[in-house]
Amino acid sequence: MVAWTGPAARAPAADFIVDADGRAVLPGFVDSHAHLVFAGERSAEFAARMAGRPYQAGGILTTVAATRAATDIALRANLRRLAAEMLRQGTTTFECKSGYGLTVVDERRALVLAAEVTPEVTFLGAHVVPPEFAGDVPGYVDLVCGPMLDACAPHARWVDVFCEDGAFGADEAAAVLAAGRAAGLAPRVHANQLRPGPGVRVAAEAGAASADHCTFLTDADIDVLTSTPVVATLLPGAEFGTRQPFPDARRLLDAGATVALATDCNPGSSFTSSMPFCIALAVRDMRMTTQEAVWAATAGGAAALRRADVGHLGVGAKADLILLDAPSHAYLAYRPGVPQIAAVWQVGRLVAGSPPSSP
Ligand code: NIG
Ligand code: FE
Repeated sequence: MVAWTGPAARAPAADFIVDADGRAVLPGFVDSHAHLVFAGERSAEFAARMAGRPYQAGGILTTVAATRAATDIALRANLRRLAAEMLRQGTTTFECKSGYGLTVVDERRALVLAAEVTPEVTFLGAHVVPPEFAGDVPGYVDLVCGPMLDACAPHARWVDVFCEDGAFGADEAAAVLAAGRAAGLAPRVHANQLRPGPGVRVAAEAGAASADHCTFLTDADIDVLTSTPVVATLLPGAEFGTRQPFPDARRLLDAGATVALATDCNPGSSFTSSMPFCIALAVRDMRMTTQEAVWAATAGGAAALRRADVGHLGVGAKADLILLDAPSHAYLAYRPGVPQIAAVWQVGRLVAGSPPSSP
């Protein structure tokens, strides 16, 4: 835990001293949106998209088939590989969703695995309608809100829904979030990713912690995001990976919304686990200042997860911190693509990289 902050000359005695030697120290990144329990990959879909094919949420079903066919051992290995990748890049807290199982057994299994690596576990049974329910959306929503939720709620903290044409409409999304709430889960929503739609409104009406994506917002959506506690979580890796327009972060910030940045790490729309990459995109392509982007990737993510103990280095914070191999936070955007995380501490313990030697 962070016990004291202030000028070095007045620091209390300590058992162990690390001299950052002029390099920047930041809170560990808080990645509030990731889909890490899956099998397979979709590089061919990505290549086709870069050759001009539009992103369609239908690609999700490719991953659903691969995930259902995978063993627990294979899913766990992929999940741990991605979690370790995140840690090396400075992410000390991350959220992890289900959503590639879409049966009672496969969704529950995804959550049990996710809970092995993070407390921020999200039930996303309402990701898309699986093939066996094609043409029967109400039937699938009944499954999600009934037996699937019963099996999954004990293993999750959050409930999420993909509210979008081709996935779930406003009423269906509201039903899933209400059922999740009744089962003790707190809502969050995939909202307004591919076109304008009801997602942000649905999120606010459900008392969601966060509306994620927010790529296509109307003025009314901005009003909702500034007049309610819903955090606007922007996922620029998804716009990068689908070659969509980036969300207008400047408009949200200037209106007074709370903005978080997250990776959306998943094999389809955004296969990056790198918060530094997302910070660079946010600064370069979403017109966030370097301070705003780092705040959104730390304190903003913590707000989106309703966590007061991470995302900052005030007294009482969980000592999750990163040492940059650079003199200021701005280098994260100034030197994109360059590994600059020299060391990572979690709860005060060195977990990645190597610190400078003690003086
Ligand atoms: O957040 N939008 C819905 N879900 C993911 C994409 C998942 C996939 O393509 O596999 C997202 O972008
Ligand atoms: Fe997502």
